[in-house]
Amino acid sequence: MKVAVVGASGAVGQEFLRVLDEQNFPVDELLLFGSSRSAGRTYTYRDNEVKVKQLRHEPMDFDGVDFAFVSAGGDVSREYADTITGRGALMIDNSSAFRMDPEVPLVVPEVNGDDAFIAPKRIIANPNCTTIIMLVALKPINDLSPIRRVHVASYQAASGAGAQAMQELEDQYGQLARGEDVKIEHFAYQLASNVIPHIDSFTDNGYTREEMKMYYETKKIMHAPGLDVSATCVRVPVMRAHSEAIWVETERPIPLAEVRGAFETAQGLVLVDDPARKLYPMPLDVTGTDPVYVGRLRQDLANPCGLSFWAVGDQIKKGAALNAVQIAQHILAH
Ligand SMILES: NC(=O)c1ccc[n+]([C@@H]2O[C@H](COP(=O)([O-])OP(=O)(O)OC[C@H]3O[C@@H](n4cnc5c(N)ncnc54)[C@H](OP(=O)(O)O)[C@@H]3O)[C@@H](O)[C@H]2O)c1
Repeated sequence: MKVAVVGASGAVGQEFLRVLDEQNFPVDELLLFGSSRSAGRTYTYRDNEVKVKQLRHEPMDFDGVDFAFVSAGGDVSREYADTITGRGALMIDNSSAFRMDPEVPLVVPEVNGDDAFIAPKRIIANPNCTTIIMLVALKPINDLSPIRRVHVASYQAASGAGAQAMQELEDQYGQLARGEDVKIEHFAYQLASNVIPHIDSFTDNGYTREEMKMYYETKKIMHAPGLDVSATCVRVPVMRAHSEAIWVETERPIPLAEVRGAFETAQGLVLVDDPARKLYPMPLDVTGTDPVYVGRLRQDLANPCGLSFWAVGDQIKKGAALNAVQIAQHILAH
């Protein structure tokens, strides 16, 4: 198996190296790609040093590649998709470039894994990280009674904006401690000691693009055009792992015990819900782990068909690299 990682130096790219190893993915040969900034740098993969190549418009660079895991931003994905797939590689793309393309499956293996089998453009899109985390939790509820609508407020970590943004948050805490001016580059405002209700750019309806990704991608992945999602996406000064407060309305009221049972047996989900012992999921505990964690499950006091709960997932793992590798595993297993 020949595997390529495009964007190897990035937050998601680095996670791919860990996840491919942790998942024991059958890699015989690994190719790493980046821009001129990281070309020539080496990274260790399973005791081997692998040098980053500069990504060029050269299909031969992808000769014999089976899977190309791409996480270098939407512009790079759009510009190089033909090069990457030109010699038959299957491109699993982490950017939003192709997610809503009807010829590109958008896949969360626990929810719609089999959609990955029909990829006429040889591209499969990995959904938005906040959407993936939410959908792993929505799936078992939807299996009990179809979900009519979802409200969600996200609490998204700095690393969701990439490796440099993560560094910016760390630097800002240092600058604050030393009484220096805080430098702001990747976020709209200072993130340290703050909360910013603004991720990606604003659209005409007042929602941000990040919020609209949750709206459109949920419909596509769940095969539910009538399932509406209203999201408020917020950046919080957490280094890693996104949290979400989620309210769902189902067709029939579902007793909590039934939901709890479904959460306990669902694939990729862990229920941590014991308020008496102060047990609920938090990003510090979830960082670096594979599953999505849910807790704080309650009947919604404002809606007889409503449920309210809290979900947390490591968005660089399940929200990006792990989900992409699981898509490849699903294809190999079938
Ligand atoms: N961070 C997350 O939690 C997360 C979650 C889900 C999806 N994603 C998506 O994954 C993608 C990468 O995100 P990230 O957080 O890993 O960003 P990042 O840390 O900023 O890394 C960006 C990567 O893209 C590479 N790159 C940039 N321009 C390139 C070019 N012209 N040719 C080749 N490589 C190029 C960079 O390589 P150089 O260092 O060589 O420039 C770097 O490896 C984005 O589309 C993002 O939306 C991110």
